[in-house]
Amino acid sequence: MEDSSDDAVTTERLVRPGADDVERAAEAALRPRRFDEFVGQRVVRDQLSLVLEAAVQRGRAPDHVLLSGPPGLGKTTLAMIIAAELGAPLRVTSGPAIQHAGDLAAVLSSLEEGEVLFLDEIHRLARPAAELLYVAMEDFRVDVIVGKGAGASAIPLALPPFTVVGATTRAGLLPAPLRDRFGFTGHLDFYAIDELERVLVRSAGLLGVELKADAGYEIASRSRGTPRIANRLLRRVRDWAQVRGDGRLDLAAANAALTVYEVDALGLDRLDRSVLVALCTRFGGGPVGLTTLAVAVGEEPETVETVAEPFLVREGLIGRTARGRVAMPTAWEHLGLTPPPLSGTLVF
Ligand SMILES: Nc1ncnc2c1ncn2[C@@H]1O[C@H](COP(=O)(O)OP(=O)(O)O)[C@@H](O)[C@H]1O
Ligand SMILES: [Mg+2]
Repeated sequence: MEDSSDDAVTTERLVRPGADDVERAAEAALRPRRFDEFVGQRVVRDQLSLVLEAAVQRGRAPDHVLLSGPPGLGKTTLAMIIAAELGAPLRVTSGPAIQHAGDLAAVLSSLEEGEVLFLDEIHRLARPAAELLYVAMEDFRVDVIVGKGAGASAIPLALPPFTVVGATTRAGLLPAPLRDRFGFTGHLDFYAIDELERVLVRSAGLLGVELKADAGYEIASRSRGTPRIANRLLRRVRDWAQVRGDGRLDLAAANAALTVYEVDALGLDRLDRSVLVALCTRFGGGPVGLTTLAVAVGEEPETVETVAEPFLVREGLIGRTARGRVAMPTAWEHLGLTPPPLSGTLVF
């Protein structure tokens, strides 16, 4: 399969931070394998590499590691790097994939010594599985239940030392006892533009295309601080350069491609912009309730709240107040509109 595997066809938003199955294949090719290829996140990287190096020197499995942060920032990548740096086998599963505590017991009881168990979306583990997990993490033991009902008994099974790497976008949802079993927690933050530029240079190299510096900057600044989005936009610009341009990824190609895909200078797409436009032009900058705003753009309130708003709020374009959503001065500016004199404070 060609690695550009046209994800724009299979999904609706070019700037969404999550990935689908088709995109995962394209991503795998661009994934850093070792710490020295992993761009940015210096604090987490330094701390984590110390933890791992110390463990390797002692010849022991390191503490369990929890990685938290928004989608697309490198949690899965880091989990794989951890296993690679330890020279340890890696087992991959996720909270939603584990239906019953028994499924987890089966995984745990088949782990090899020193193995890294990557549990993605660990906040979605059902409670019985989470309880089984934290006993296993602390005592390296799992109770295997034999039989049913009154005759059932628990046979404790000792596990070899292993390391859990948990990833979550919602660390706050983890039950406290589970969170406490992680000896190291790393929080990933959005990337700066120059860091994304480095991600793009590296990716362009792997894709075998030449990326001009100004094009790299342009793509990076529209990528919402997220390497996954940066790599995706890069693939779209490459497509454009190949089909409509002369194959070179220069500023003109970047601008033209991102115009075709309606990703604007801040990385806003059509939905984001229609929310902003409605807020500013139909509601005078707000405050306006979420439901009213959603009706105005023809979307479900939930879509507006979970898909468009987080980035708009993070960029300081809109604010959430007790009386509803308000447009911030930067929103007017971004749309090229003049705010009314009392924008944001009008009540109607
Ligand atoms: N620090 C980084 N340096 C280079 N590429 C990165 C970095 N972080 C993420 N990526 C790229 O972004 C993509 C998404 O990263 P991933 O680890 O899957 O994110 P998450 O698991 O947090 O959603 C990966 O394919 C990888 O190529
Ligand atoms: Mg992931």
